[in-house]
Amino acid sequence: MARKPFIAGNWKMNMTVESGKKLIEELKPLVKDANCTVALCVPAILIPEMTKAAAGSNISIGAENVHFAASGAYTGEISAAMLKDYGVKFVIIGHSERRQYFGETDETVNKRTLTALENGLTPIVCVGETLSQRENGETEKVLDTQLETGLKGVEDATKLIIAYEPVWAIGTGKTATDEQAQETIAYIRKKIGQLFCPKCAEKVIIQYGGSMNAANCKGLMAQPDIDGGLIGGASLKLDFATIVNYDK
Ligand code: 13P
Repeated sequence: MARKPFIAGNWKMNMTVESGKKLIEELKPLVKDANCTVALCVPAILIPEMTKAAAGSNISIGAENVHFAASGAYTGEISAAMLKDYGVKFVIIGHSERRQYFGETDETVNKRTLTALENGLTPIVCVGETLSQRENGETEKVLDTQLETGLKGVEDATKLIIAYEPVWAIGTGKTATDEQAQETIAYIRKKIGQLFCPKCAEKVIIQYGGSMNAANCKGLMAQPDIDGGLIGGASLKLDFATIVNYDK
């Protein structure tokens, strides 16, 4: 069964209204014939203006996080309803930077994922091991826990996207090799098969993320289990269009 590839940018805490609009205007003609789903997940405060800038194009504007409560005393957080107000479809959940700097755990990832799904948003759930965990041979164990806890109670795994982002490859210029990424993503797919069903495993879209760029995207995308990318640094420039057009 063919899975439609999905290339998403993660702007993290970068860009302003002006620079973001300029980039989107420049990207629009370059990505218009993409054969994959294209999204840019941007800082929440930029969502309204970036949505306007991307209107009428094949670039979908997504979010970088969502809170699990419908509303309430959660200073600084953004609810699913607020994202839906602006037509957001995709939301990154559990990025390793959120886990590392903002106390995100597999439990909060789980709550946010369930809330996103209940609200019709597509979560991009991030998983991945640190360098020491890989070196200690713990990669599979770490992924097992992240997937078992993070996706607990999810009814239909095909309604979410998984991003495999080895922490040691994020922002370091040290990409996983094609083989490392393929092997680990194949493991994640197998695990989804065990946790949900074999058909779900076949259907679920799994992205690779971590120093993916215009030069290495073709090799990564040629791997049978890699269905796309979650792009940090390279999504802040026109290189993003080269990645989106990896098959041309
Ligand atoms: P880089 O592409 O900058 O390594 O970031 C990857 C990432 O964290 C995407 O979510």
